[in-house]
Amino acid sequence: MRAALQILRVDPFDAADHDRWWHAYAAAKHADMGEDALVWTLEESRAEMQQHSATTERRTYVALRDGAVVGAGSLALGLKDNLHAAALGVTVPAEHRQRGVGSALLAYIEAEARDAGRRTFRAETAWPAAAPADGSGQPGIDFARRHGYALALGDLQNRLTLPVPDRMIAELLHEAPHEAEPTTVPESASPAAGYDIRSWVGPVPEEFVAEWAALDAVLDTEAPTGDLDIEAGVADVADHRADEALQQAQGRTSFGTVAVAPDGRVAAYTQLVVSGDDGNAYQWGTLVRHEDRGHGLGLRVKLVNLRMLQQHSPHVPRIYTYNAESNAHMLAVNTRLGFVATGRLGELQKRIG
Ligand SMILES: CC(C)(COP(=O)(O)OP(=O)(O)OC[C@H]1O[C@@H](n2cnc3c(N)ncnc32)[C@H](O)[C@@H]1OP(=O)(O)O)[C@@H](O)C(=O)NCCC(=O)NCCS
Repeated sequence: MRAALQILRVDPFDAADHDRWWHAYAAAKHADMGEDALVWTLEESRAEMQQHSATTERRTYVALRDGAVVGAGSLALGLKDNLHAAALGVTVPAEHRQRGVGSALLAYIEAEARDAGRRTFRAETAWPAAAPADGSGQPGIDFARRHGYALALGDLQNRLTLPVPDRMIAELLHEAPHEAEPTTVPESASPAAGYDIRSWVGPVPEEFVAEWAALDAVLDTEAPTGDLDIEAGVADVADHRADEALQQAQGRTSFGTVAVAPDGRVAAYTQLVVSGDDGNAYQWGTLVRHEDRGHGLGLRVKLVNLRMLQQHSPHVPRIYTYNAESNAHMLAVNTRLGFVATGRLGELQKRIG
């Protein structure tokens, strides 16, 4: 008879406990996505789990059989917004699959989420770009459907090999409507040309941080949301600074660019984050305020940010980004820059009564 499964909460301050959780999590991710598995590194996830966060309560779990780890789970609970929701993670290394580990972990973590008063459960699963777009036949999707989760939003995972020739960045910048070199705005220019582009490496400058936090908070609801039952985040400068401190502890470097409107307000922002551990750059948020759309600002801030990244850190090998499959405009720009599709990410959701 097979030994019973035991599920335990992980203590992130116990090094061995965290490490064995992480190895199972990372092995399961690599099993499906190979080198394009986007995995938080051991130390990045340790720092995140150890953070005392005012915005998110995070928990991790291991599934054990005969004392050996056969599965890894996670739970994240928003503390200031999205109080109805929980983000769940279930990962089982390939050699332990199809024996009920995933189901047992999921049931355990769902019960924890329910006990915390959450009614909307969200999870993610990745599969290679070559597989069917709806994920059918992929273990994560089949598993999720069997457990009552629906695909609420489909994203493409794209990878860009660096460097992009600077002349291509210049060409695309030139094509963007109302091209104007940063800070040199002719008096006669149309209002759209009056945007000032500002970039930096590291924390967001004090003068922009409140507006940056406000734009960042609405990113999830302003970007395509599909059927996701989510609400905008709460903008708070202290929380933003706490996240920056976490990134610093994780050895990450942030590259930020904003477009400042003639009235002095931040009209658009974008952010690339480079991992000190795996060396890759990851595209985080990009958003243009409603009233400033249609001026090519999204493309402009991204190109300027990319140029800064390449000048500051010429050895970064690649950038990964996710785009909603419905975001045709952004995908077209990314294709021109040289991004290739490496996978898909399914955002899954289940609501309970
Ligand atoms: C999805 C995952 C967690 C499943 O783990 P698991 O331990 O194999 O799951 P279980 O053995 O409990 O499977 C339960 C059901 O899921 C379905 N399932 C699991 N793997 C499947 C596969 N490869 N093909 C088809 N169906 C599958 C089956 O319907 C199975 O039911 P059955 O036991 O009646 O056949 C695992 O494949 C994994 O870690 N994938 C990568 C991370 C991920 O995508 N997580 C999903 C988040 S919702």
